[in-house]
Amino acid sequence: LKVLSVVGARPQFIKAFPVSDALRRDHDEVLVHTGQHYDESMSGVFFDELAIPEPDYNLGVGSGGHAAQTAEMMTRLDGVVADEAPDVVLVYGDTNSTLAAALVAAKRDPALAHVEAGLRSHNWAMPEEVNRVLTDHCSDLLFAPSESAAETLAAEGIRNGVSVTGDVQYDAVLRVREAARERSSILDDLDLRDGEYVLATVHRAANTDDRDRLGGIVEGLASSELPVVFPVHPRTEGALEASGLWSRLADAENVVLVEPVGYLDFVRLLDGAERVATDSGGVQKEAFYLDTRCLTLRDETEWTETVDAGWNVLVGADAAAIRAALADDDPLPEKPSLYGDGSAAERIVAALSEYGDA
Ligand code: UD1
Ligand code: UDP
Repeated sequence: LKVLSVVGARPQFIKAFPVSDALRRDHDEVLVHTGQHYDESMSGVFFDELAIPEPDYNLGVGSGGHAAQTAEMMTRLDGVVADEAPDVVLVYGDTNSTLAAALVAAKRDPALAHVEAGLRSHNWAMPEEVNRVLTDHCSDLLFAPSESAAETLAAEGIRNGVSVTGDVQYDAVLRVREAARERSSILDDLDLRDGEYVLATVHRAANTDDRDRLGGIVEGLASSELPVVFPVHPRTEGALEASGLWSRLADAENVVLVEPVGYLDFVRLLDGAERVATDSGGVQKEAFYLDTRCLTLRDETEWTETVDAGWNVLVGADAAAIRAALADDDPLPEKPSLYGDGSAAERIVAALSEYGDA
């Protein structure tokens, strides 16, 4: 089978890492990077440390408004799909890179396969919700991380081509957890000790582009009793500077602002954190896999099972709510098993092989 995989943003490099590895054992993979993320700390570092093969194509699209960015990706990718004539186009998650590739594949011959199908926030104002719903409805093969994601697809009338595979990010965390403990020096570098700091990440448009929400998050984090280590996404750095909030965080004694870190360092930070405050999709799940309590800086989540299990709490962007959640030390319930057993990549490749044989 010839599979053309499309990635472009940080979480997609991490999701593709176990899948590409399994795929290349039996099939041909052409790897396309759209160029949506391009800083060394948002892209290059993951290819280097996870030994992801050099992309066959880098479309170099870069940043831009939704329409311009998506359109440019589609235009450049369309030629590649025409030249390569793959059997399958494989996409991940819910970014503009995902949607652009889905639309290109849907209008050409290859089948479209979607990893992380069936997730919903039910918030149509969120660009990712538009991307994931449209991608699912264009897809021929849908890889759902949980039974409930498959049920969501069924409720929308999508029953053919769906397989429940588990979550590829669980595969990724399991592969690097030990290496992160052995090789990452980030705790020493930042003078942090296991269990004695909070990790924070923020990048969701609803938080960065709303001064009140961003301000609430900044005040909430600044009120933490424990030190807060905050690897700042470039979008958030821009928003903090534009809104005058950067200096509030930089001046807060308990907050350590750092550049985005590589995956080994991030997994080490998340593994050792007393808790994490995040609006990331991936980090909510990774926190669960690494037994770290999570506060989600949003009003809803796609990963509802982590909330139902009592390991994740939706706190929104209100300073007082964040302060209260940071101080909450009710014991955590026993952890159920969610999102598979760490062999999602193998299941995805098995489903692709079956498709190829049919
Ligand atoms: C994108 C995805 C989001 C995903 C996130 C992962 C969309 C609509 N959003 O959001 O779903 O959760 O990636 O991190 O696809 N920038 C840089 N350097 C980079 C990349 C971005 O400086 O390497 C800055 C630019 O100012 C850019 C801004 O960040 O305008 C936003 O980047 P973009 O890729 O458009 O969206 P993200 O917020 O990263
Ligand atoms: N991550 C990382 N370094 C960081 C922040 C996050 O390696 O400084 C990883 C994290 O482990 C997770 C992924 O990036 O696998 C999440 O990406 P992000 O939060 O940007 O996107 P989302 O998951 O919200 O789409």
